[in-house]
Formats: sequence, C-alpha cells, structure tokens
Amino acid sequence: MSEFNLFTELDRASIINVATVPQRSPFRYPGGKTWFVPHLRQWFASMATCPRLLIEPFAGGGIVSLTTAFEQLASQVIMVERDNQVAAVWQTIMHGNAEWLANRIAEFEMTPTAVQKELCRENLTGHELAFQTILRNRINHGGILAPGSGIVKHGENGKGIKSRWYPQTLRNRITDIMAIRKSIQFIHGDGIDVIRDHASESDTVFFIDPPYTAAGKKAGKRLYACNDLNHDELFSLLETVQGDFLVTYDNTEGVKQLAVRHNLDMEAIAMKNTHHTEMTELVIGRNLDWMRRGRQLVVDFHHQLPSMQSD
Ligand SMILES: C[S@@+](CC[C@H](N)C(=O)[O-])C[C@H]1O[C@@H](n2cnc3c(N)ncnc32)[C@H](O)[C@@H]1O
Repeated sequence: MSEFNLFTELDRASIINVATVPQRSPFRYPGGKTWFVPHLRQWFASMATCPRLLIEPFAGGGIVSLTTAFEQLASQVIMVERDNQVAAVWQTIMHGNAEWLANRIAEFEMTPTAVQKELCRENLTGHELAFQTILRNRINHGGILAPGSGIVKHGENGKGIKSRWYPQTLRNRITDIMAIRKSIQFIHGDGIDVIRDHASESDTVFFIDPPYTAAGKKAGKRLYACNDLNHDELFSLLETVQGDFLVTYDNTEGVKQLAVRHNLDMEAIAMKNTHHTEMTELVIGRNLDWMRRGRQLVVDFHHQLPSMQSD
C-alpha cells in the first residue's frame, strides 16, 4: 500500500512534515508524541486566552510540556511521571544538577566496556541514575526502558550502540531546557493525583497520554515499566475537570466505547508509526470542532529522510 493511500486529496494538501517540529527531548520515547505537536499548536490557537497552566500527567519523553514551555503556549507547565528512571532524568534537568548531566553525556566515551560498567552501577544518586537512564534509553531497542528490553546489536548503518548516541545534540537539548526551566515544574508521582489536585481550575489545561497500546496489556508492559492504569477511573475523573483537556489513545473499539460512555468527542488522526505502518490514533476531548475546522494530517516523515537525526 502506498504511504498516502489512507488520505484524501484534501488531506494531502494539508499534510505537515513532522521533520519541521523541533526535537527538544533528551529521550527517544516509545509512543512519543512529536507527531502531535502541530495539533497541539492548533489546540492552543483555538483557545480564547492563553492558559495559566498546562499539565502533562503522563510525561514520558515530555515533548508536549517542552514545546508548550519553549513556545510559551501556556504561562506555566507541570509534568508528572511515575517511573523512577524517567523521573530521575526530569528531576535532574528541571530541579537538579542539569549541567553535570549535560557534561557527563558529552564526555562519556561510548565503548561496550564503558557501557557495561555504567549499566552495572547500583545505589546511584539522582543525577547518576539520570545519566544511566539516558544511556539505556539511547542504546536499547526502540528506547524502551521497561525490564526485559534489550540493547541494540547492529543499530542504524551497523553503528550498534552508537547509532542513537548524539552527545553534543543531547547536551544542547539539556542546556536549552535549562534556559526555560523556570516555567516547568516536574513532579515524580501519580498523574491521576495531579489531575485531581487541579481539577477545579478553569485556567488549567491537560494533555493526557496514558500508557495504553492496542496490542493489549502484554505489549504495554514491554513499552513501559509503569503501565497499570484504570482507564475508566481516568475518564470518570475527567468529567470533573473544569479546564479543557485532550487525551490520546490507540484507536481501538474499547477506547471508543469508553469515550462514548463518558460523552466525549473523538477524532482519528492518521499517522505512521516507527515501523512505517499507517495507523490512526484517537484524540479525545470535550469538543474537537477546532480540530475538524483546520484538519491537518500529520505524517511522520522522518523515516523517509534516513540521513536526518530524528530523535
Ligand atoms: C504513553 S507514555 C507518554 C509518552 C509521552 N506523551 C511522550 O511524548 O513521550 C505514558 C507514560 O506514563 C507513565 N506513567 C504510567 N503510569 C503513570 C502514572 N500513574 N502517573 C504518571 N505517569 C505514569 C509511563 O511511565 C510512561 O512514561
């Protein structure tokens, strides 16, 4: 099937090249939402006023929080993550010794022996765990940090463990974030609790990307160490939220039924996953008219540009 077969002529005219979205995260994150950024901008543009606060309760690689802060789409940002390893990175960058982390990455000599030694280290401080996590994320298949995920053998162009190790780029991304981190608060905790804490604020908006995959719990387990979430409870909580919110999910019957049961609007967005497969993701919200008005199709082009450093 050709890559555009899913799209109508009208849609083709409005395809956005995701390669134009700045990569700001030090992570390459499974299920990362870089492809969603053009829609995110459209969502903010549809609002009557700039929100006081954006909360990303399931931050992962945090591209939505970072884009919001860099582009000043909201005055403040809160990002929340439960996973210890991922949290160590954000805690260090937002509230800790980010400079140490940036330099450690830039100076690390990537050899199989050095990697083995680093991965065996235990009882680490927060910033040491942050470095170990970035290293793991960069050398594991698909950036997967969950237990059981393996290290790449050949990688891109046979470069093996070095194929996704861009030390200068990573250092620059961290120092760029340091320059704007005053507007971002990181919370190592449960995203559900943080949604509940801010549910009554009408000037707070939420971008919610919960751990879920169409392939079911088993696949979800392979992607994230923290993946058990009561999705029905999340939707019930969203009924109490005063500000606007968007939720993204795999496009499955079960999720659609959940949205219908909770009287929410939904739209399917076409995209390509990292295996070049055309698929659709579901965006769920209270009212997605803004999305239908300026319908934009986002195709993840970066695999068509092999020389490009995609993450
Ligand atoms: C689908 S991923 C988010 C990906 C992210 N949107 C990105 O662009 O990289 C879901 C994330 O939620 C985290 N998570 C799972 N349960 C959580 C919870 N109860 N509270 C906070 N984070 C949680 C997982 O560790 C994972 O990083």
